[in-house]
Amino acid sequence: MDEKIMVTGSMGQIGSELIPALREKFGNENVIAVGHHTEPDQAFKDAGPFEIADAQDKEALRGIIEKYNINIIYHLVGILSAVGEAKPDLAWNVNMVGLKNILELSVEYKIGRLFWPSSIAAFGPTTPLENTPQKTILEPTTMYGVTKVAGELLCQYYHIKYGLDVRSLRYPGIISWKTPPGGGTTDYAVAIYYEALEKQSYECFVNENTTLPMMYMDDAVRATIEIMEADPEKITVRTAYNLTALSFSASELADNVGKYINDFKCTFKPDERQKIADSWPSTIDDSRARKDWGWQHKFDLDKISVEMIKNLKNKIK
Ligand code: SER
Repeated sequence: MDEKIMVTGSMGQIGSELIPALREKFGNENVIAVGHHTEPDQAFKDAGPFEIADAQDKEALRGIIEKYNINIIYHLVGILSAVGEAKPDLAWNVNMVGLKNILELSVEYKIGRLFWPSSIAAFGPTTPLENTPQKTILEPTTMYGVTKVAGELLCQYYHIKYGLDVRSLRYPGIISWKTPPGGGTTDYAVAIYYEALEKQSYECFVNENTTLPMMYMDDAVRATIEIMEADPEKITVRTAYNLTALSFSASELADNVGKYINDFKCTFKPDERQKIADSWPSTIDDSRARKDWGWQHKFDLDKISVEMIKNLKNKIK
């Protein structure tokens, strides 16, 4: 059967890069981008179908599924951790109501495969924060994290109860250049490159010892497509897979940026996001993803810095 793919959250950090990759693989017309509040630029609109819908509006989603005969969904809509702390009700409604709508519609329309993103935010201060195992304590202290744990369990429930082929990854912080940093705690690892290029300095909002799992966007996009293309028998985790590429402290990141930007100076002034970062793991054990469906990352920190600086130079000149 032909793939007819719907991607919600299409203008977000992951959506805006996953969609071109999916369009290249499956054809422009077969990937329907769904956005809500950000108007896409003309190039994005010209590249393939674009629809507007709020994920909380089940009937709007139903209309798109029917219009295009959708059989695969990537439901990426989500309010991230820092915004979620400022607006916890919004985070609950968008993240949970949106996911529940998609799960119900996926069963109703016999969607073949559904992808939904979880996060390192599913972990919390009581989790073993080094080499965090796949199966572990999940007691997050952010609303974003609460929606990720509830969402993971809901996905697993729909798999067990209705046989829905739903797959998920606990993404680490994702470093990318296409969309500006937007409301996440791990965004210092993105913002640092913008400000290094614009003013040779950055005031980092977490302290220099803060170490979190991270990944370059190209790896994250590849992981997402690979888990969705894997044989269903290989998927042995129906909550969400641990996933990582590398971990580095904020000062290691600053030093690395300094290798490529002359006279770069980083200072550290932790704000309320420090507490969130402190509640998340510093390193993750993702051996299950590596064993089950062959996950392998490609980008180390030097490669990330080179790519970020090269692409941002073009973008902001
Ligand atoms: N990158 C996200 C955040 O910082 C974590 O999933 O909110």
